[in-house]
Amino acid sequence: MNPHLSPQGSPAGPSSPTSDDRRSAQPGRRVTDWNPPPEGNGAGCRIVDLPRVTDPRGNLTFIEGNEHVPFDIQRVYYLYDVPGGESRGGHAHRGLEQLIVAAAGSFDVIVDDGSEVARFHLNRSYYGLYVPRLTWRELGNFSTGSVCLVLASQKYGEDDYFRDYDEFIVARNVAQGVTP
Ligand code: TYD
Repeated sequence: MNPHLSPQGSPAGPSSPTSDDRRSAQPGRRVTDWNPPPEGNGAGCRIVDLPRVTDPRGNLTFIEGNEHVPFDIQRVYYLYDVPGGESRGGHAHRGLEQLIVAAAGSFDVIVDDGSEVARFHLNRSYYGLYVPRLTWRELGNFSTGSVCLVLASQKYGEDDYFRDYDEFIVARNVAQGVTP
């Protein structure tokens, strides 16, 4: 188990749009907003600015495989009703790529590629965090009522998981050609 996840730490990832930003968004227009990169290279992960169709009746965001994410979407799952203080997802995948979206509320995603650890605070349903294969990731600091939506490049398969952090590091080093 990787002990990176803690309630402390400065959030990385997108800052909140101002009320002026929101007012300037015209109904029916696709809008983007400024999105600062995390410090470092985000452990190989990046924020994807998803399309937004704003409308006084309610806004709409859509995600297409191989368009807004660099993979075919084979599976969708979501985490919800997460009790305060709980964390999820202490694992990595051998081949699976994923996009993580705060469909409601907010939470932190801590990602670790074996050489860098980055924390992303997701709090907008139009930002996704792209997480490549061989990335250890943990989720925590869930707000009440939050929903963590995950789009995945593969169907569920336990044999694609690393659940042991040290095993993940060994595999990561092999993939990077690092000799022990
Ligand atoms: P898991 O991905 O291990 O979540 P976490 O790392 O947060 O504990 O999923 C928890 C359990 O849910 C796991 O034992 C298997 C099951 N599961 C499925 O059956 N299908 C799925 O698509 C996922 C994501 C999990």
